Amino acid sequence: MATMKAVLLESFGGAKTLRVKEIDRPQPGDAEVLVKVHAASVNPVDYKIASGKYPGVTQAQLPVVLGRDISGTVVSCGSRVTVLQVGDEIYAMLDRGHGGFAEYVALNANLCVPKPEKLDHTAAAAVPLAAITAWQGLFDHGQLNSGQRVLIHGGAGGVGHFAIQFAKERGANVSTTGWAADKDFLRLLGADQAVDYKSDRFEEVVQDVDLVFDLVAGDTQERSWQVLKDGGALISTLAKPSETLAREHHARATNYMAQPDAAELAEIGQLINAGKVKPYIEATYTIEEAALALVRLEGRHTQGKIVLEVSA
Ligand SMILES: NC(=O)c1ccc[n+]([C@@H]2O[C@H](COP(=O)([O-])OP(=O)(O)OC[C@H]3O[C@@H](n4cnc5c(N)ncnc54)[C@H](OP(=O)(O)O)[C@@H]3O)[C@@H](O)[C@H]2O)c1
Repeated sequence: MATMKAVLLESFGGAKTLRVKEIDRPQPGDAEVLVKVHAASVNPVDYKIASGKYPGVTQAQLPVVLGRDISGTVVSCGSRVTVLQVGDEIYAMLDRGHGGFAEYVALNANLCVPKPEKLDHTAAAAVPLAAITAWQGLFDHGQLNSGQRVLIHGGAGGVGHFAIQFAKERGANVSTTGWAADKDFLRLLGADQAVDYKSDRFEEVVQDVDLVFDLVAGDTQERSWQVLKDGGALISTLAKPSETLAREHHARATNYMAQPDAAELAEIGQLINAGKVKPYIEATYTIEEAALALVRLEGRHTQGKIVLEVSA
C-alpha cells in the first residue's frame, strides 16, 4: 500500500497536538479523483476542531486529517469520472471528513474546479473555503445588490478580504471594521470606509446599511442592529442573530454554514482570471509546520490568508 505524509489530529488539545505522520494513501471511489496536493490553506475551523470545541467532531471520530481547501493535480480517476483527466490542475473546497493537509486527497470529482490560470497553486489554495463563505454570505444569504450599502465585520481576515472585493465588484458601498494596522490593507482591497474596532465605535460612524456581514459575533453583532436599515439583513458566519430583534427591524437575519459549491468557485475563478479579485497571502509554511501555521492564525493579526505548501 502506498503511503503519504499527512497532518493528523489524534487527540484534542489545540493546534500544538497536531503530528505529521506517514499514513495510507487514500483510494478514490468510483465518483472520486485522487489529487496530489500542492498547497492547502489554513482556516479557523482547523484550530477550532483541534481544540475539541467544534460542534459535531468528537473524540470517537479521531484521528482525522485537517484542512478544508486545496490546490493540486489529478493523479487518478474513479471508474465513473468523465469530467476530469489525470494531469488536470484543480482547486476545491473539501467536504467535511476529507483532509487537505496531506500529500494526497480523494474527493468527489464534482467538487473540483479548474485552478485559475492567473494563480500558482499556493495562491489558488488560499481561495476556496474563505471565498465561497464570503460569496454565500453576501449573495446567497445577504442578497447584496449594486448600489446597496454593506458593513463587513472582520474585513482583513480570510473571509473578510474576499468579501470586500466581491462587494465592491458587485457595485456596493463597503464599510468594514478591522484593526488600525489593517487600515491601509482594507483600503487597498477597495473598502470605502475602514473603522478601527479597537478605538472607534462603528455605530457612531456607519448608518443605514442594507446588509451587515458578521464574521465576529458577540457584542459586535449585537451593536450591529443600530446601523441596519429597516428591512435589511444581518448574516453571520458565527452566532445566530436574535429573532426578536430581527422582527423589530423587519430584517432577514441568520447564521449559516458554508457549503462546497463548484459553480460558485468557478465564477470566483473567472473574477480572479479577469484581475478583479485576488487572494492575499500573509505567510506560507511547510506541511511539517502546520501546527505553527494554525497557532499563528489563531493568535495574530493575519491579513488575508496563511497557506501550507505541501509538495512541488
Ligand atoms: N460558518 C461558516 O461556514 C464559516 C466559514 C468560514 C469562517 N467562519 C468563521 O468566520 C470567522 C472569520 O473567518 P476568517 O477565516 O475570516 O478568520 P480570520 O482570517 O482569523 O479573520 C478574522 C478577522 O476578524 C478580525 N476581528 C477580530 N475581532 C474583531 C472585532 N471585534 N471587530 C472587527 N474585526 C475583528 C481579525 O482581526 P485581528 O486579528 O486584527 O483582530 C481578523 O482580521 C471565524 O470565526 C471562522 O471560524 C465560518
